[in-house]
Amino acid sequence: MFGPIKIAPSLLSADFLNLERDVAVIGIAGPDYLHLDVMDGHFVPNLTIGPMFVKALKRRFDIPLDVHLMIENTSEQLDWYIDAGADLITVHVESGAAKQACKPGSSRCVQDAQDPEALLEQLRSIRAAGRMAGLSLNPGTPACAITPFLTELDLVLVMSVHPGFGGQSFIDDSLQKLDQIVVDARALGVDPIIEIDGGINEQTAAKVAAHGADMLVAGNAIFGARDPNQALHDIRAAAKATQP
Ligand code: DX5
Ligand code: ZN
Repeated sequence: MFGPIKIAPSLLSADFLNLERDVAVIGIAGPDYLHLDVMDGHFVPNLTIGPMFVKALKRRFDIPLDVHLMIENTSEQLDWYIDAGADLITVHVESGAAKQACKPGSSRCVQDAQDPEALLEQLRSIRAAGRMAGLSLNPGTPACAITPFLTELDLVLVMSVHPGFGGQSFIDDSLQKLDQIVVDARALGVDPIIEIDGGINEQTAAKVAAHGADMLVAGNAIFGARDPNQALHDIRAAAKATQP
């Protein structure tokens, strides 16, 4: 929340046959984290990587790992990612029981529908393992869904595209959601990192930083660029320029 700007390149847009090369290339620009999208083919209609891959990256590179869990069975699988060495683990407020109440486009608050105890247990076990705990919300989920958990979080991850795929366009309504989260966090006297994920490029980076996002995920805009290091640098500069 208005802290130093952090950039987390998303490996989803890297070349999966040359991941070691792509991470090494981006390492030159000094990413703050590597963003790893874990998808299970249930919570989102795509399937990506698992804990073995996280563990292999952890062994090979000295870049903090930001693991974004887009999975249905978070409670059962969370320990896999703690054991694999994730530095920051983000779970979705819509996973598990709550998903039914979070249809895309719904403005209904999901507070009553989720299992807050299970979610709290997940967040607390991440922190108990000495890692940072994040909570994410989809574009169709209102900001109030995460308010009850704000005091238990190191980070809030606002999805600015529907999760599942890289290369989508930024959803502008995300800016109002950032504003609301800043208001809610201030009211509670907490100061989580606010991460934003989806459609981030130089232009949208400038917008989101002005609204309180201080950790920016970028996949396509970095790994799809002719010069990924320059792209990372430009996104960081654009965000810094508009941060109040
Ligand atoms: C989408 C993922 C994102 C994705 C972002 O579900 O959570 O991290 O890689 O990709 P871009 O930056 O291309 O929108
Ligand atoms: Zn992500």
